[in-house]
Amino acid sequence: MDLNLRGKNVLITGSTQGIGRRVANLFAEEGANVAICSRSPESVRKAVKEIALLADGHVTGAPCNIKNKEDYEAWIDDMSEELGGVDIFVPNVSAGAGMDSEKNWWKNFEIDVLGTVRGVEAVIPLMEQRGGGSIVMISTTAAIETFMVPQAYNAMKAALITYAKQLSQAHGDRGIRVNSVSPGPIHFDGGAWDMIRISNERFYQKTEKTHALGRLGTPEEVARAVVFLASEGASWITGVNLVVDGGYTKRVQF
Ligand SMILES: NC(=O)c1ccc[n+]([C@@H]2O[C@H](COP(=O)([O-])OP(=O)(O)OC[C@H]3O[C@@H](n4cnc5c(N)ncnc54)[C@H](OP(=O)(O)O)[C@@H]3O)[C@@H](O)[C@H]2O)c1
Repeated sequence: MDLNLRGKNVLITGSTQGIGRRVANLFAEEGANVAICSRSPESVRKAVKEIALLADGHVTGAPCNIKNKEDYEAWIDDMSEELGGVDIFVPNVSAGAGMDSEKNWWKNFEIDVLGTVRGVEAVIPLMEQRGGGSIVMISTTAAIETFMVPQAYNAMKAALITYAKQLSQAHGDRGIRVNSVSPGPIHFDGGAWDMIRISNERFYQKTEKTHALGRLGTPEEVARAVVFLASEGASWITGVNLVVDGGYTKRVQF
């Protein structure tokens, strides 16, 4: 199957490590032009260099804290100008989980929800100029099934799934598809679940056993789902939430 990503322009936020980085790697390997960001200039420089070795498309990036509206919009404008437009957008940054009550509600609203909304509002006119496009939001299985404790992360990530569905209805007639991917627990060195493995091995092992497939997922396994949904291989798929969790969640997904 040809995903037809050669020459497509892709913007991915939070893309120097973890899932966002593997998404950027895979788009580049498929021949797309890729723009990345994170808050650390050094990490961005290093990641751009490494991704550029993977393929022959254009790879660029700049430091940007998506919390800052002006900087974020400037990053989108700059990346779009350098690549020559935007075809695909993956808003991947999250403030992460946390249980400090109000502080976390504000953080998850500002970063996860508003960060996604601001990015989407900036890229939609750019996609319209290209005659269409594709957006893939990154939610989580913590949004769709009870996970640990009541917390802002779970609820704010749930908001993204609803937002994506509504966007898909509002912008479909202009050739813009909008979907979500909800990963279950994902392990990679230095990631959140690596920390949990070190600090609370029993919980980590229990979580592994909860998966139908008996292990945590990898960022590559999530990236493959994101890249497929973003691509023309998924041309007839819009408004879905694709759960990528190795059977971690137990609900029947009608
Ligand atoms: N890991 C999991 O198990 C899991 C499961 C389900 C869903 N998810 C979701 O998948 C997405 C990626 O998670 P991950 O675990 O791969 O993340 P991660 O390892 O924490 O990586 C986050 C990336 O985003 C950058 N970043 C963080 N805050 C930023 C900001 N304010 N502005 C710009 N860049 C920022 C980080 O670089 P700097 O720190 O240098 O800025 C890094 O490149 C998130 O939306 C998360 O909720 C993850």
